[in-house]
Order: sequence, then C-alpha cells, then structure tokens
Amino acid sequence: MSIAVCPGSFDPVTNGHLDIFRRAAEHFDQVTVLVTGNPAKTSGLFSIEERKELIRAVTTDIPNLTVDHWGGLLVDYTTAHNIKVLIKGLRSSLDYDYELPMAQMNRRLSGVETFFVMTDEKFGYVSSSLCKEVVKYGGDVSGLVPESVIAAMREKFA
Ligand code: PNS
Repeated sequence: MSIAVCPGSFDPVTNGHLDIFRRAAEHFDQVTVLVTGNPAKTSGLFSIEERKELIRAVTTDIPNLTVDHWGGLLVDYTTAHNIKVLIKGLRSSLDYDYELPMAQMNRRLSGVETFFVMTDEKFGYVSSSLCKEVVKYGGDVSGLVPESVIAAMREKFA
C-alpha cells in the first residue's frame, strides 16, 4: 500500500492546502495529513487539536485521508509508520528555498523522499498567515479558506 504524509502547521488549513491533499489522495492509497507542533505549547491561533478538527471537518469526502499530529522530528514519525514519501505544495521560489534544505535533511536522516506538487494558480498567493491577518482586520477570504474555517477564525478574533 502506498502511503504519503502531508506535513505542516496548518494554522489554519486553507483551500490551497486542501487542493494539495486532494491531489495527493488521487495518487496514493493513503494520505495522512500531519499537523506538526507540540500540543502542550500554545502557539499560533488554533491549538493542534482544533487544527486537526478543522481539517477533518473539510476532508470528510476524501475516504483515503486521515489526520494525525506529531510533536517531534518528522522523520521519526515517517520511520515509525514505514512511510517513504512526504508531499509538499510549492507556490513559488520562496517556498522552494525554504523546502529544499528540509527535504535534503529529511532524506539524509531517514531516506524519506519529498515530492513537490505545484500549487494551483488560484492559490499561489494564499497562506495561513496572510488569511489570518485579513480576517483579523475584517477582510474577506471567501474562496481561499473553507467557510467553516473562516467562521472559526472570526470566532477567535471576536
Ligand atoms: O507548514 P509549515 O509550518 O511550513 O511546515 C513546516 C514543517 C512543520 C513541515 C516543519 O517545520 C517540520 O518538519 N517540523 C517538524 C520538526 C522537524 O522534523 N524539523 C526538521 C525539519 S528538516
């Protein structure tokens, strides 16, 4: 069975992330969306558990997708679960510069490969942090973030 992990902080999940999850799920038998971070530490807008719940709620139509979290080195998770592939979305050369050393380090540490999926042009400028800022000051991110996630952000900022 082919398994891939889509890791990230997902604070919160955007439609750009969702597009990558869906496309990954078409090519692998099983996709695990892995929310990284320490559940005991409060950093970011949403807790790890909240991030997982938000992802679960908007991926119920993807039967071969599961959501998990991990607070340690990514390669320790992939090795423990015998997972050989990580999947990341690439929006631009900025992402490439950020991702390349991590992909090389992860491969050196464990042999895990990183497959890059080019972001759909609709979501090329979408990031969790930008969407949070827009929502915080009352802006509209419809179409860029799932409606349920927009509602959750508004509640946090209220
Ligand atoms: O969505 P993000 O925040 O850009 O995701 C980065 C993430 C979470 C994939 C990266 O920070 C990570 O892999 N964290 C787990 C800890 C780890 O393994 N660090 C070494 C990476 S080479």
